[in-house]
Amino acid sequence: MKTLVTMGRGGTGKTSFVALMTKCFIENNKVPLLLVDLDPDQNLAEMVGVDLERAGIRTISELIMETFLKKGGTTIGVSPTERIETTIWERGLYEGDLFDLIAVGTKWIEGCYCLPDAALKGALSSMVKKYEFILIDSPAGLEHLNRKITTRVDDIFDVIGPSNKSFEHVKRAARIVSEVGIEFNHFFIVGGYQLPNDLEPTVQKSTGQEYLGKIALDVQVQDAVMAGKSLLNLSKESVAYQSVKKLMENAGYL
Ligand SMILES: Nc1ncnc2c1ncn2[C@@H]1O[C@H](COP(=O)(O)OP(=O)(O)O)[C@@H](O)[C@H]1O
Ligand SMILES: [Mg+2]
Repeated sequence: MKTLVTMGRGGTGKTSFVALMTKCFIENNKVPLLLVDLDPDQNLAEMVGVDLERAGIRTISELIMETFLKKGGTTIGVSPTERIETTIWERGLYEGDLFDLIAVGTKWIEGCYCLPDAALKGALSSMVKKYEFILIDSPAGLEHLNRKITTRVDDIFDVIGPSNKSFEHVKRAARIVSEVGIEFNHFFIVGGYQLPNDLEPTVQKSTGQEYLGKIALDVQVQDAVMAGKSLLNLSKESVAYQSVKKLMENAGYL
């Protein structure tokens, strides 16, 4: 079971990258997968064709709300942590044939993710089901990784934006990851679809991290996202899908 975290600034194409990685793993029979959406904007589910609300699945934030705020207090004999972890697995896990999905949900108390993050961390450590890969979509601010969702990941993918500025972000991100003591094997840089081609050759040198390649700009992705359609249904000829497949090969997964 390998844990892969995708991070980067907003709009660089992180979530669609995670969806396309999902497609890659599915096409290559590396299933089941667990997808974890840490972004309060919550668009990973939609990009893989899951309607959590219709499936009756709650986000972790919602479950915490219901469990602790509405019902109040603790149940005698069961610690609050234990109770929320059980609740997360029972009511917060979308289970599909090829992948499961869990979402942290909207912002908790303004700016504070501590509670849902801690709950997720506890839940992940008490996980019984085995997955081939756990794919985590992490928002721009690094708050989540920072508060240690998990202390051990296999590989980190930092999707970079269209300018030199994003190289600074990479340096900062790599520093924060080390500072909070997250263990990892690789810190990979992925060129976002907006990265100008002429910057590509400079990425590795400027950031000091391993560059895997670029996600191709693909109108099919744009159209699918706009229409709220699943990226898993893109044709295998989609240039973005092909480019992500190549990245996955370069990272040694396929
Ligand atoms: N490979 C791509 N080609 C073209 N447009 C893309 C591609 N990936 C993402 N986009 C566009 O960029 C927008 C942001 O992508 P998204 O994956 O949500 O970024 P992030 O999660 O980093 O905020 C999407 O709405 C989509 O229109
Ligand atoms: Mg996103």
